[in-house]
Amino acid sequence: MSKQFAVIGNPIEQSRSPELHHAFAAKTGIALNYTKRLAPLDGFAESVEAFFSQGGSGMNVTVPFKEQAFAQCAVLTERAQIAKAVNTLWMQNGQLHGDNTDGQGLVDAILALDWPLKNTDLLIIGAGGATRGVIYPLVKAGVKKIVIANRTLARAEQLVADLKDAVPEAQLQAVGLDQLQGQFDLVINATSASLSGDALALPEQLQFSHAYEMAYGKPSSFLDQAKDRGVPTSEGFGMLVGQAIEAFYIWNGAKPKLKDFI
Ligand code: ATR
Repeated sequence: MSKQFAVIGNPIEQSRSPELHHAFAAKTGIALNYTKRLAPLDGFAESVEAFFSQGGSGMNVTVPFKEQAFAQCAVLTERAQIAKAVNTLWMQNGQLHGDNTDGQGLVDAILALDWPLKNTDLLIIGAGGATRGVIYPLVKAGVKKIVIANRTLARAEQLVADLKDAVPEAQLQAVGLDQLQGQFDLVINATSASLSGDALALPEQLQFSHAYEMAYGKPSSFLDQAKDRGVPTSEGFGMLVGQAIEAFYIWNGAKPKLKDFI
C-alpha cells in the first residue's frame, strides 16, 4: 500500500495541498495518497491520533489548528519552536514530531522570483501568527533588518520582544501602521486583511522595491497599490508550493523544484 498523508483543518475543502503533493509524487516517482481531513473544532488531537494509529505517514496542519499541533508535539524543530506553530507532523520512534515549513516556503518563493533577500531591509505588515512563523527563516536567509508594522502597535512590540534573542544577527523593529515610513527592498503583507476583504492603506511616504502578498486568489488592495507604483509583485501561491515542498522533503527525502510548479 502507498504511504498515506493528509492535510487537517477546519474548513478544509479549499486546500490545494492534495493536488500539490500528488504532483510532487508524480514528478519524483514516489507512490503516495494524500487526502483532506476535516477535524471538529474541539476534536483536533483525536483526529491526529486516529490518523497516525491507522498507519498514516504524515500530516499537514492548517487553520485554525497550527498552535494546537505545536502544543501536541513531543519533539519540535528549532524553527517550529520559534514559530510556536506547526504545519507538518510525522511519527518517529513512537513520538509525534512537528516542524513549521511556512517560513522556508516564503524564502524559497522569494528566491524563485529572483528577488534579493541577503542584506536587505524588509517590512512585514501584520504581527499575528503568519508573521511569527516567517521571521526566523527570513533572518537565516540573510535579511539584515525587519520592521514589523501593525495596526495594534503593542502586538508588534510584543513580537519583537519575543523574537529578538532568537535572531541576534538581524535588527528587528516594531512600528504602528499609521507611523509607517521609510524605504524598503521588500514589503510583505502578512495581515489577514485580504482574506477578510478589508482594504489596507499604504502611506504615500512609504517606499519599496518589491511587494509580496501572503494570501492568494483574493482581491488585495495591498497588491493593487504596489502595482500602481510599478514595483514587481507576487501573491502567495509560491509560498504555498514552497511550504508543501519542504514538507514533502521531510517525509519522502526528495525535493521537487519550486520553479516547476509555479
Ligand atoms: P494570522 O495567524 O493569519 O497572522 P492573526 O493572528 O489573527 O492571524 O493576525 C492577523 C493580523 O492581521 C494582525 O496583525 C492584525 O492586526 P491587529 O493585530 O491590529 O488586529 C492584522 N489585520 C487584520 N485585518 C487588518 C486590517 N483591516 N488592517 C490592518 N491590519 C489588519
